[in-house]
Amino acid sequence: MLDKKMAAAINNHIQEEMYSFYLYLAMAEYGADKGLMGMRHWMRNQAMEEMGHVVRFMNYLEEKGAAVELKAIKAPPKSWKTPQLAFEEVYKHEVYITSCINNLVDLALSLKDHSTANLLNWFVGEQVEEEAGVKGVVDMINLTGNAPGGMFMVDRELAARPAAVDPLNPAAA
Ligand code: FEO
Repeated sequence: MLDKKMAAAINNHIQEEMYSFYLYLAMAEYGADKGLMGMRHWMRNQAMEEMGHVVRFMNYLEEKGAAVELKAIKAPPKSWKTPQLAFEEVYKHEVYITSCINNLVDLALSLKDHSTANLLNWFVGEQVEEEAGVKGVVDMINLTGNAPGGMFMVDRELAARPAAVDPLNPAAA
């Protein structure tokens, strides 16, 4: 059993996670277009993590006997002025997603819904990692400045990102 307000808020949030998935896929294609295959790899794996988040929320709604309601996803941008600006947008987007998770936690606590609060606790920790991970990339790009070959070196680092966990089995994360 899940409060209707909580179920609606989780369904709205699934849409945010789906947009994150879409946004990072678009950034992966932008990277591929620029010949930055490390960026493509990093963004595709980031997108897979977002799909894992979607599945985690969907599984929870199923377990609680609440309906999953998939909503329309808006189209993400197709390109960015520079790879640096794309990664800065990832960081800003993750800060926004953190605020969404915090709002869900506030709602769960106001409803005394401890099972949802327990689910969300995992996401609170995950958002700390997500923000830190992309901030590390932004810092790395800033450190190279506009040095010739700087983005080429960063791209090699991005290619080393470990593969995301199977999104259909997010509990393995
Ligand atoms: Fe699902 Fe990147 O937050």
